[in-house]
Amino acid sequence: MEGKTHMTSSCVPFPRDFVWGAATSAYQIEGGWNEDGKDPSVWDHFCHTPGHIHNGETGDIACDHYHRVSEDVALMKELGITSYRFSINWPRILPDGNGPINHTGLDFYSRLIDHLLEADIEPCVTLHHWELPLALHRRGGWLNPETAKAFSRLAEVVGKAFRGRVRRYLTLNEPQCITALGYGNGVHAPGNRTDPLTQAAVAHQLLLGHGYAVQALRSTAGTVEVGVASTGSIVCPAEDTVENRAVACDATFRCGENWTFMHSWFLDPMVLGHYPEQRPPELDAFVQSVSPDELAQICQPLDFIAANIYSGDEIDAGGRLIPRPTGWPRTALRWSVSPKSLHYGPAFLYRRYHLPIYVSENGQSCNDRIFLDGQVHDPDRIDYLQRYLLALRDAIREGVPVMGYYHWSLMDNFEWQSGYDDRFGLIFVDYANKLRRIPKDSFYAYRQIIASNGGCLNDPGNLGSRR
Ligand code: BGC
Repeated sequence: MEGKTHMTSSCVPFPRDFVWGAATSAYQIEGGWNEDGKDPSVWDHFCHTPGHIHNGETGDIACDHYHRVSEDVALMKELGITSYRFSINWPRILPDGNGPINHTGLDFYSRLIDHLLEADIEPCVTLHHWELPLALHRRGGWLNPETAKAFSRLAEVVGKAFRGRVRRYLTLNEPQCITALGYGNGVHAPGNRTDPLTQAAVAHQLLLGHGYAVQALRSTAGTVEVGVASTGSIVCPAEDTVENRAVACDATFRCGENWTFMHSWFLDPMVLGHYPEQRPPELDAFVQSVSPDELAQICQPLDFIAANIYSGDEIDAGGRLIPRPTGWPRTALRWSVSPKSLHYGPAFLYRRYHLPIYVSENGQSCNDRIFLDGQVHDPDRIDYLQRYLLALRDAIREGVPVMGYYHWSLMDNFEWQSGYDDRFGLIFVDYANKLRRIPKDSFYAYRQIIASNGGCLNDPGNLGSRR
């Protein structure tokens, strides 16, 4: 690939300046749900309403990261990550969503950023990972155009406060999930169940919010890279042939009934300036009613696309879905282990959007526990990590400009409607014992991978064994 400067030789598997990161989100780890002037978000309200979350659990305390920033950053340093992706809890900074600034809330993030910079870890800030201020929800949430404008204000406040200290931003995390789960089947906050046209209106406001936020960051945050964290179905070719790849790529982006969960419903307007042409007919009139002016607001130049990729399907060149055979490896959440998705996902996203790619989330849930030796052994996660990173390396080797990888997650945390049972962390959080942090074997494996810039992926036997 022309202009590609980040691959040096075949014995250096990852580019020299490849970003090795780990990710979290505010509600999932912070706790401090009503402290220091923070008002509730839709997630606080949703979890406090019985019947929504497994075991009635909440993020009120979560991992108590709000009070343990220096301990947690010290662990990140020990891990060796070069970047940390975290998110801003919107009502911690703007309790009313769009009113006065809560400076104590802003200071919390400012301290976190300072700790990270001191530890030589680049902050990567997600502006919105689902904690919509309840006040905005009560005024109509993502169905009210005020919310998109308020989001732009959040971007402006954050961009200005962290100017010169934060250089990488993501606007929204997975607008697909907000649309499909928050306003579609109601499994996520705010728990609304609406029809497809209403969901299209929600998606549209999210897109406008993204566009406004990009503009706000460009004008307040100084020199920054801006992108968005998208998710969606990834369809991989069963055979690596030109024909099969073409069919799989087309299936990855064709919007059918599952349009809310597709990358293209969101990334096409953001990057290409129009909604996907292959779409459900019931949305035609809606799409045609969108003005060119709004599309221009949405389609702002981006520096990269970030993708959260956990799993994928496979089809053959004839377009037939290949069923997973009995006994196929699955995670604790029953997601199929599909390393190829980290090869073809980035490859197809690059093919369609021609922007550099970050993997902003990837990881596996396990029912981890503390063994009798006092340590947390998680060979499944190590195997997952290794297989997926080898697949990502295949994408890089064929010229896809993948700039970095953020493991999900740094630490075990509140897994939304599933509560705390499913653990995604490299660090075990002992919920029963004062939230003590215990690095798992995978923490040490990832540390080795980072220290060797991926070189030790060629030596699978030893991963995680060296503490
Ligand atoms: C979300 C995370 C979540 C993870 C695992 C992603 O969809 O961004 O917040 O914990 O997947 O379910």
